[in-house]
Amino acid sequence: MVQKIDWRAPRGTHDILPADEAVWRFVMGIIERRARGFGMGRIETPIFERAELFQRSLGETTDVVTKELFEVNHYVTEVGEEGTHYALRPEGTASILRAYLEHGMHVWPQPIKLWHMGPMFRAERPQKGRYRQFWSAGFEVIGDADPTVDALLIHLAWQIMGDLALRDQIVVDINSIGDNLCRPKYRKALVAYYQDVREQLCPTCQERLLKNPLRLLDCKEASCTELKADAPQMFDHLCTNCREHFRVVLESLDELGVVYDLNPNLVRGLDYYTRTAFEIRAKDDDGRQAALTGGGRYDNLLGELSTKSTAGVGFAIGIERLIEKVIATGLEIPNLQTADVFLIQLGERAKKASFNVLAKLTDSGLTVICQAGQEGLKDQLGLADKARVRFALIIGQREALDETVIVRDMFEATQETILQKDILKVLTDRISSSQNPQ
Ligand code: HAM
Repeated sequence: MVQKIDWRAPRGTHDILPADEAVWRFVMGIIERRARGFGMGRIETPIFERAELFQRSLGETTDVVTKELFEVNHYVTEVGEEGTHYALRPEGTASILRAYLEHGMHVWPQPIKLWHMGPMFRAERPQKGRYRQFWSAGFEVIGDADPTVDALLIHLAWQIMGDLALRDQIVVDINSIGDNLCRPKYRKALVAYYQDVREQLCPTCQERLLKNPLRLLDCKEASCTELKADAPQMFDHLCTNCREHFRVVLESLDELGVVYDLNPNLVRGLDYYTRTAFEIRAKDDDGRQAALTGGGRYDNLLGELSTKSTAGVGFAIGIERLIEKVIATGLEIPNLQTADVFLIQLGERAKKASFNVLAKLTDSGLTVICQAGQEGLKDQLGLADKARVRFALIIGQREALDETVIVRDMFEATQETILQKDILKVLTDRISSSQNPQ
């Protein structure tokens, strides 16, 4: 007996089906348009990299590295790479900086502006909005330390939220987490405060106190939240340069009309940030703090990976979370027109004639749906309607004999019969006049 396999997608992953395509394409289209409008070029990096890249960039003690990295046990013997330790990428910034170094982007015109979109992998405990494979779109500006760039990137995220009619539903949280000069002093003050109340912290935070004290500010446990109220704040410990940087970021955001909240407890889950850190979350977040977008400045990251130190700032959007929000708000998504033409043939002779027409149309670049196995005019017209195709071409026995074809405009509900030899011209004229109405 054949053993059945489990046909469900692995926990925390999901299929994206044709029915989801309209909203995915709509959201991705908006992101792409905004990224290009910002002067960004698209980069796509491999889905796996050497694990060391993530360990070194995201922080050895972060959850993403210690608990959530999908490690790939692959030993490539024939090219002598035995034992190379790979991991599926949990985020995009580290890979982009690796590509920056590999391609010598420091000699390209500066700053480098890149965006990307693709699946990321984190072995988290799956729940709504938290997946093990999720898509993200990331935006990076490398080689510009100016604080106005931070503001312009936050504005870019704000614009994308506006395009998706989400501005009323979101909060932009912003903080400065200082730099290598002032953060160690702040960390010291924080540890001193929490040492005295150590017993009252949740077990995770007791561990954080030893390994990554800044993350104490991020805890949602009731006892820890209470303690946070009296904890020292980063604002009060910023050095002069960081304070000035933050002032310009906030002033620029005001100029750009971005509405934001100052959140002194925002620290982010990745270690590479300096100065500006920001997140966009839904107002109705119900305390899960599932951010739609997160990012900030990472001026020290490149210097930690190589001898080429330069400033960087960026953010990434979680596509599934964004799409869930867009669907929940009921935004009208334009229907997808899947093809230019739906070709209907009725009978054997008509089938042959229709193949001739199909070849002619597709060779000239039109997209044509042809359900060769389907019979019956009504069924096929129904399919054409569902596919949101404007033109249905109908070839029956009579048309096959006369070398004609019926052109039915599905949107206008009109039709005419023309010669098959004229079909390409008629269709291209009609399509171009509908795209450029007088
Ligand atoms: P991140 O905040 O770790 O930042 O992830 C970016 C976004 O990805 C989050 O705001 C969230 O919407 C989404 N996301 C994260 N984890 C999951 C998950 N398990 N399931 C669904 N969505 C998720 C970064 O990745 C940084 N690389 C952003 C950045 C770019 N900073 C500077 N440049």
